[in-house]
Amino acid sequence: MSDPNAPTRLLVYGGNGFVGTKVLEIAATRGAVCTSVSRSGKIPAQLERLRPPWLSQVAWVSGDALHPDPSLVASADAVVCLVGSPPLPTFNQVAFQQQVMTNGGANSAVIAEAQRQGVKRLVLLSAHIPALMRSSRFGYYVGKQQASAAAAEYTKASEDNAATVIYPSAIYGKRYTAAGIAVPLGAFMSPVAWVMRSLPTVVSQFLPESPVPVQQVAACAVEAAMAADRRGLTVVENQDLWSLVSP
Ligand SMILES: NC(=O)c1ccc[n+]([C@@H]2O[C@H](COP(=O)([O-])OP(=O)(O)OC[C@H]3O[C@@H](n4cnc5c(N)ncnc54)[C@H](OP(=O)(O)O)[C@@H]3O)[C@@H](O)[C@H]2O)c1
Repeated sequence: MSDPNAPTRLLVYGGNGFVGTKVLEIAATRGAVCTSVSRSGKIPAQLERLRPPWLSQVAWVSGDALHPDPSLVASADAVVCLVGSPPLPTFNQVAFQQQVMTNGGANSAVIAEAQRQGVKRLVLLSAHIPALMRSSRFGYYVGKQQASAAAAEYTKASEDNAATVIYPSAIYGKRYTAAGIAVPLGAFMSPVAWVMRSLPTVVSQFLPESPVPVQQVAACAVEAAMAADRRGLTVVENQDLWSLVSP
C-alpha cells in the first residue's frame, strides 16, 4: 500500500521542451518529484542560467521515448507524454514516417510501457487539428491519432487506469531557443486569441480554433497527472482549456 502523503512521482517525456518546462515548473511547485526524459537529457539553457527554486525537484534524464526504460516508467505514479514534432507537411515517405513515429510511435511506446508496468495515470498532449487537415496523408495527424488510440487502449486495459488526452490548438507563451533566448510568442498570439474568442459563432465556426496560453495547457496536464481519484478516459478539447483551470 503506497503512502497517500508521499509526493507524486511524475515522469515527463519531452519535459525539456516548450510545454514540458512549464509542466515541470507547475508540478514541482505543487510538490511533485519530477523526472524529465528527452534524447539530449539536458537542462534547458534558460533554467540552467536562472536556477529557479523548483529545479531541485526535477531530475533530467537522457532516453528515447521509442524505447522507454521499464524500471524508470515503473517508478512513476503518473506519466506525461509530450513528445512531438511541428505540424509540417511532408514530401516523401521517409519524412512522413518520421512525423508518424515522433508524434505517434514514440508516445505510443511510452503508453504501452506504462500499461505493462501498472502505472495508473497518464496524460497525453495531442493537438486540435482543423477538419481540412485530418487526412491519412498528413503524418502529424496520423501520428496524433495513433497516440490517442494507444491512450484509449490503456484505459481499457484496467478499470483503475486514467488517461487524459488534451487537444490544444496553437500554444503561446515564452518559448526559448536552445541557447536560452526568449521568443515571446504571446506578444503576437495573445491579441489574436482575444480577437478570435470575441468573434460570434457564425463567424468563428469557419475559422481555426483560437490559440491557448502554455500556462493553461500545462496546468491542465498537471491537474490530470496529480488527480489520484481519476479513472477512465478524459478528453480535454481546446475550448475547455479556457475554463477548466485558472492559471
Ligand atoms: N507548441 C504548440 O503550439 C503545440 C500545439 C498543439 C500541440 N502540441 C503538442 O504538444 C507537445 C509538446 O509540444 P512542444 O511545443 O512543447 O514541443 P517541443 O518544445 O519540441 O518539446 C518536445 C520535446 O520532446 C523531446 N523529444 C523529441 N523526440 C523525443 C524522443 N523520441 N524521446 C524523448 N524525447 C523526445 C525533445 O527533446 P530532445 O530533442 O532533447 O529529445 C523536445 O524538447 C507535442 O506533442 C506537440 O505536438 C504543441
